[in-house]
Amino acid sequence: MTFTIAIDGPAAAGKGTVGRLLAARFGFAHLDTGLLYRATGRRTLDGIDAVEAARTLERADLEAPDLRTPEVGQAASRVAAIPEVRQALIDFQRAFASRSGGAVLDGRDIGTVICPEAEVKLYVTATDDVRAARRLTELTGVGHDITYQEVLQDLRLRDARDSARSAAPLKPAEDAILLDTSLLTIEQAVAAAIAEVERVQRG
Ligand code: C5P
Repeated sequence: MTFTIAIDGPAAAGKGTVGRLLAARFGFAHLDTGLLYRATGRRTLDGIDAVEAARTLERADLEAPDLRTPEVGQAASRVAAIPEVRQALIDFQRAFASRSGGAVLDGRDIGTVICPEAEVKLYVTATDDVRAARRLTELTGVGHDITYQEVLQDLRLRDARDSARSAAPLKPAEDAILLDTSLLTIEQAVAAAIAEVERVQRG
């Protein structure tokens, strides 16, 4: 059985958390596609050409300890605007999406470009303020010395770049279900996502 759940949305809206918990609920595999771009961006900070970095990405690159930093996030969003970088990462993502047993992928272009035929498409959003506050808690929780204003600026810069690029810009698929998590707890957001998956499964 293949069954694909595509989750897109701006930075720190809760895509990863919803994706991880949905995957656990249904026994599906989960891929945080942002990690592919972060690992590629991370390698460019070591002086490797972006396209080369994407083409030769290895599993170990996805385990670099600093992939979640704002600096690597910015590098990710710069390389993500390069069509050849995106092209180099497509096959891996599509193969993951069509594995048997079901898959959840979260990113920016999953419902629009990577898996336009996905059975369920969610577009997860939250206000800038809520997203920045959540990301600040996450980053300071693992010891980063960063302010609310810096986090807010980082998210806004990436969202603007991700939305304005011509290659697979951030936008909801036409048939995506919108899930605004601003006023929801994690449990409520996941419950809404589960309800949507079950609705589709019932046919
Ligand atoms: O999701 P995350 O914040 O980790 O993604 C980092 C960056 O990778 C994003 O800002 C975006 O530029 C890029 N990205 C993308 N397409 C995806 C996933 C991430 O362009 N499917």
